[in-house]
Amino acid sequence: MTLLNDRTVGLPAGLLEDLRAAVGEQHLLLDPDLLPSYEQDWTGRFSGRAGCVVRPADTAQVAAVVRACAAAGVPLVTQGGNTGLVGGGVPAGGEVVLSLRRLTALSEVDRAAGQVSAGAGVTLADLQRHVRAAGAEFGVDFAARDSATVGGMAATNAGGIRVLRYGSMRAQVLGAEAVLADGSVVTRMGGLTKDGTGYDLVQLLIGSEGTLGIVTALRLKVVPLLRSSCVALLAMGSTQAAVDLLPVLRERLPHLAAAELFHEPGVQLVRRHSGLPAPFEGDVPAYLLLECLDRTDPSEDLLELVAQADGLLDARVATDAASARALWAYREAHTEAINAEGVPVKLDVSVPAAALPGLVEQLPTVVAAVAPAARTVLFGHVNEGNLHVNVLDAVEAHDAVTEAVLQAVAQRAGSISSEHGVGRAKPAWLHLSRSTTELAAMRAVKGALDPQGLLNPGVIFA
Ligand code: MLT
Ligand code: ZN
Repeated sequence: MTLLNDRTVGLPAGLLEDLRAAVGEQHLLLDPDLLPSYEQDWTGRFSGRAGCVVRPADTAQVAAVVRACAAAGVPLVTQGGNTGLVGGGVPAGGEVVLSLRRLTALSEVDRAAGQVSAGAGVTLADLQRHVRAAGAEFGVDFAARDSATVGGMAATNAGGIRVLRYGSMRAQVLGAEAVLADGSVVTRMGGLTKDGTGYDLVQLLIGSEGTLGIVTALRLKVVPLLRSSCVALLAMGSTQAAVDLLPVLRERLPHLAAAELFHEPGVQLVRRHSGLPAPFEGDVPAYLLLECLDRTDPSEDLLELVAQADGLLDARVATDAASARALWAYREAHTEAINAEGVPVKLDVSVPAAALPGLVEQLPTVVAAVAPAARTVLFGHVNEGNLHVNVLDAVEAHDAVTEAVLQAVAQRAGSISSEHGVGRAKPAWLHLSRSTTELAAMRAVKGALDPQGLLNPGVIFA
């Protein structure tokens, strides 16, 4: 029996039967009670009706789903852990949602090559556990590790807290398997670290947000597992002082693995929602969280450098795991604390390092000009000039706030999306970061690989 509802009535006759044949009765979801968690992002900012949800088990089933949708001319939205922050994995209305969460295969860690293969639905936390058990580490990490999947991380070229040491997701990917828009499969999982045979299709898919193909598996680099860590939370006299410290840190701390910037409004929110005590006495102009990772204890080097840091007001240093986690909590709890206050206007931008202090100073004023009652919370990955701009009490002024912030970023030759992607949130502002020529080339690539426009329509391009 085919269960029809107001979502599925828009789907062409026969498609549901083909999808059922592709993934099995149990993994074609039509029941309206089962669909909402696939139809809304966790921040509550993006939602849309799914025609249905399919949950394939492997690449062959993904290919069968794509062939069925291509034949019917029905668009697809690919979804991983649904932790994205720009609406790229949420349907706009009526698409088939392709959930890759069942693609959880993990290969043994190949110690000789320093590589591992992972299905697109493997969560970051599961990948981390898997490679650590083999004495290795994965080079990307961020707070949503328990839900975010490696497929989604590849699709968005995810960054996070370790970019300064290992680069973003793109730098970890050595191969991929992907289903193209016509249902054909490209398999390039050999993991060659040098390969000069023309266009790099794997890298083309990284950061393409599911618009050029559906990544079903990845060949990933692993890095050494470094068990000795030292974390320091620095109270700095200004954002400028924090930014000025960075070249010194990079030169003198080869084991530097994270440098995170945040400010008093964020710490106040984190404290309100977590009950954490004040990290320092009184307000602090800028917080800088540093982590060093090495085979031997890096604390002496970090302590020496911290003691001499210009602009330092105070510092706390953690050399054991529990106190390190306690210091990280002030940074990692930002996203949840902000969401607990209400639905934010959430922007992710980057500017050249030298421009970061000026942007941090200007943004509250820029926002207040279009949303006077708004609260602006800034935090981010300071080495990459990557700022997460979260504006509370401004949902009604969403577009005006977005326009004002992104224009300020563009004036500083920055990027309107540093690590979250373009999604459905930012196509209207893409021209601020990409020239007309680049946009035309990007559209040509999209048109060549997905001529029917079936893969994640509305994502990246309006
Ligand atoms: C982070 O750095 O914590 C993430 O990018 C999430 C966010 O921006 O909220
Ligand atoms: Zn981030």
